[in-house]
Amino acid sequence: MCGIVGYLGNPEKTIGVLLNGLKSLEYRGYDSSGICIVSDEERNIFKSEGKLENLRLKIEGQNLTAPTGIGHTRWATHGKPTENNAHPHSSGPVSIVHNGIIENYKELKDALSKKGHKFYSDTDTEVLAHLVDEYYHDGVLLEEATVKGFADVEGSYAVAILSENEPDKIVALRKFSPLVIAENEEEKFIASDVPAILPYSKNIIFLEDGDIAVITPDALKIIDSEGKEIKREKKLINWDPVMIEKAGFRHYMLKEIHEQPRAILDTIRGRFSEADYTMEFQELLKLNLKKISKVLILGCGTSYHASLIGKYLIESIAGISTEVDLSSEFRYRDNVIDKNTVVILISQSGETADTSEALIAAKKQGAVTIGLTNVEMSKIAREADFTVYTKAGPEIGVASTKAFTTQIITIYMLAVFMSISIKRIDKVQSKELIKSLISLPKLMQVALELDKSILNLAKEFHTYRNFIYLGRGINYPVALEGSLKLKEISYIHAEGYAAGEMKHGPIALIDENMPVVLIAPKHGNYFKKIMGNFQEIKARGGRIIVITSDETFKNQLGGDDRIVLIPECSELLSPLVTVIPLQFLAYHIANLLGTDIDQPRNLAKVVTVE
Ligand code: AGP
Repeated sequence: MCGIVGYLGNPEKTIGVLLNGLKSLEYRGYDSSGICIVSDEERNIFKSEGKLENLRLKIEGQNLTAPTGIGHTRWATHGKPTENNAHPHSSGPVSIVHNGIIENYKELKDALSKKGHKFYSDTDTEVLAHLVDEYYHDGVLLEEATVKGFADVEGSYAVAILSENEPDKIVALRKFSPLVIAENEEEKFIASDVPAILPYSKNIIFLEDGDIAVITPDALKIIDSEGKEIKREKKLINWDPVMIEKAGFRHYMLKEIHEQPRAILDTIRGRFSEADYTMEFQELLKLNLKKISKVLILGCGTSYHASLIGKYLIESIAGISTEVDLSSEFRYRDNVIDKNTVVILISQSGETADTSEALIAAKKQGAVTIGLTNVEMSKIAREADFTVYTKAGPEIGVASTKAFTTQIITIYMLAVFMSISIKRIDKVQSKELIKSLISLPKLMQVALELDKSILNLAKEFHTYRNFIYLGRGINYPVALEGSLKLKEISYIHAEGYAAGEMKHGPIALIDENMPVVLIAPKHGNYFKKIMGNFQEIKARGGRIIVITSDETFKNQLGGDDRIVLIPECSELLSPLVTVIPLQFLAYHIANLLGTDIDQPRNLAKVVTVE
């Protein structure tokens, strides 16, 4: 969850390209940052604690030019977020930036100390600089010293390394952490993620574990640990750099909430044939669904909430028994899965350590794995037996919004595809399911018009310090998701519960200081029960915000209760509408409280540590 960048090209541009690249990666971690630039004459290193702005101010006015540089924005894992622990880390002529965790850094550090190496930081990364420097002496090239230095390293890493002895070279390598490289006519680029490079080149090379990139002014060479050249295809990434900007919104999160109808359309497009209203998952044609006895869906955080909704969708549409588990729990459990189990791993980033490790565990236990992710060539996309993509486009805000709704729609389409494949439904039934899908973006657009009215609600409710979110059936996971959104960006405590659980304990919490958000779309099975929950809460003096499609609810409200009217839609697709006012409520409360919405404290967009 750190961000690294590298540049080799026009000396006048190096510092600007590095800082802009780090800015676009700040969502990956932002408690300290630094850059290192080298020229024939000298090496300069700048580091600062806190936001990237502090680093920019430190460099401003230095009038330094250098053709080669690397940079880093950090989310601390080993060592406090201090300037001293900020990357780049150096040993002798070698400087390095790193994303990942070196699991055996203590043993490596002890061995190097015995050889006389002196350490100045508490980080695992600094060990890497000393390891390369240990082998980097007369006649040995930087890439050769790197291969030798990394031979005994255990853990995960994506690194960019430079040396003041070879100022026109950057060496980059990866294991378990993402790293991309690219070039244009006169420049070369390295980054942890695509957004840092897109403004300069759309033809991206996704390095694979074990690849070593040796970047010089006239070559973007990739070798293996024996020095043998490897060919990696360039992938054209159509994300428009403008998409990555805020498009006039105050925060990426607000932009991404409003992007949801387009993201849903992009995710549906190309999988649904208008001719005969079928779902086409080319990626899954080789999967023999008739043999599947069970589906298991794994994820973390918001992706876990999408997984819970996936259970309702697959069991209701395809009739296949479906379990859901947290990736971090599944990994260490004695699981009952086999070759007739399909394990779906949901991850926006495709890099979450708990989920990518759960994928490996599931494969070891013989299951068929499907990665459901938003990032092409991400670790989960590459490791899974099959991959299906959400097409949400880059999600920069740490709080996941459009990724969540596109994950749900992808599982919905998967469920329809599975159901037709095992002949549980016929073309007429699938046509009905698909038609309600196609009308969804319009319904979501109607819900997006609630933005301003939810702001008024936030003005009334932003001083509370605790909330309960309640939902039933397929909207129970939406209650969990709504409470997570509020927690992670406003730092207010919120809990999501199945509404039927209230009488088993949580109702003891209800008083005038504990507002309840009640998700109550008008659907047969649950609506009457939810009305019962509403009465239970009112009888105990609770204050309620009702998210409902039933206008008559107004007649039940007390003076301090509030109603948010959403459009009617099918029960199975209702989460894509009910979640929108909850996303707005979290956003506007956080905005009123002045928290850092796109980069909330203690969080990172991609959690690549366990
Ligand atoms: C959601 O708003 C959070 N940012 C977090 O819970 C996130 O969903 C979780 O870390 C999983 O990330 P992934 O989807 O990239 O695997």
